[in-house]
Amino acid sequence: QIGSYGDRECVRVYLVGGLVRDLLLGIPNVDLDVVVEGDGLSFARVLAETFRAKISLHEKFSTATLYLPDGLKVDVATARTEYYEFPAALPVVETGSLKQDLYRRDFTINAMAVGLNQDTRGHLVDFFCGKSDLEQGIIKVLYNLSFVEDPTRIMRGIRFVHRYGFRMEPETKKFALQALEQGLMEKVSFSRLKEEFMLILHEENFALILENLKEMGLWERIFPEWTISEEVIKLLKEIPPTWSWVKEYLAPLDLNLVILLVLCHHCSEMQIRTLNEKFSWSKLYRSALEKISWNKERIFQELATNSLSPSGVFSLIGDLPAEAIVYLILVSDCRQRKVIRNYLEAKKNLFMHISGEDLKCLGVKPGPRMKQLLDRVRKERLDGNLISRADEMTYVKA
Ligand code: CTP
Repeated sequence: QIGSYGDRECVRVYLVGGLVRDLLLGIPNVDLDVVVEGDGLSFARVLAETFRAKISLHEKFSTATLYLPDGLKVDVATARTEYYEFPAALPVVETGSLKQDLYRRDFTINAMAVGLNQDTRGHLVDFFCGKSDLEQGIIKVLYNLSFVEDPTRIMRGIRFVHRYGFRMEPETKKFALQALEQGLMEKVSFSRLKEEFMLILHEENFALILENLKEMGLWERIFPEWTISEEVIKLLKEIPPTWSWVKEYLAPLDLNLVILLVLCHHCSEMQIRTLNEKFSWSKLYRSALEKISWNKERIFQELATNSLSPSGVFSLIGDLPAEAIVYLILVSDCRQRKVIRNYLEAKKNLFMHISGEDLKCLGVKPGPRMKQLLDRVRKERLDGNLISRADEMTYVKA
């Protein structure tokens, strides 16, 4: 449909970027990127009106984003050429041809287009042998200065390597290492680094990506607070198998937070504070990172020295966010892990007969005292000391 409107408006319209790559790979992708040879912004306005879409315009870059009523998002851009006034700066943009637009992109596999107008509909435009690189599994830049102009492409490249099981073409890897050695990554704004970093966490092979970037010496350059040791890499790799059984006990879980807790494994309290400031994490993230950093030594000591009952473990870790418990499981030895697992098993099967309502009827006001009482009943139940509702009522009355 977009193509027919292109014909009507007399502009050439193409599908570009990641969607073309994934279409050829047969992988689902819902990010619609459209390039227009002509006035992309006017064309985007026409589409917005036709499809009753919300539109957000970025005049400086001649791009627009359409939000369709069915939830689909379409990025529309004017075919452009870009140049950078200094390394790692944002680009200066000028209108250009489709070929120029594709040439300024990161890798050959992302520099293909598919025609949408009636006469070119479905035709692949592949000036730079992207299809052949895709078939051979190669990540290759289009020009020598690609990483100099945008060093975050190094992180993108490694992301694609592990997402698709591809390899980085040797010359491309050499350019990446040179850009790192020249300290160009340090010139990128923190918000862009954070954005790229978060994209890595969403990848299935996040551990391999983080490891590969460690081998390239990336982390100490951009996030010096993190010591990504061999131990940390091993823990990261253990997340997926551990995940598969813990989610039975602890749901819902935020995988990103578990990964962050592992990355902060060697951090001091001071470093955690610095990271929290830099990243402006949510309250939940801050609190999980701080609680673990402040309490983990004590928790491990207790888990190691005492043969704790489920209620003892509850006192120790019951208040921690679920993700922090997953972190503790990851770093525990076999014995400590068994203690935590026993607790989780007991907690999973726990059904409290009495509730806050019952306590209210007994004259207890909602607040810390009520929580304390419910926790005490929970502990007794965890250890199997109270069985029935009558047991619980007698206990709280006493
Ligand atoms: N692009 C680029 N340089 C970057 C980021 C993006 O050249 N630093 C180009 C690539 O051609 C990419 C397109 O912009 O295909 C769209 O970018 P984006 O949506 O971020 O990436 P995708 O390739 O779609 O990757 P993903 O599948 O991870 O969303």
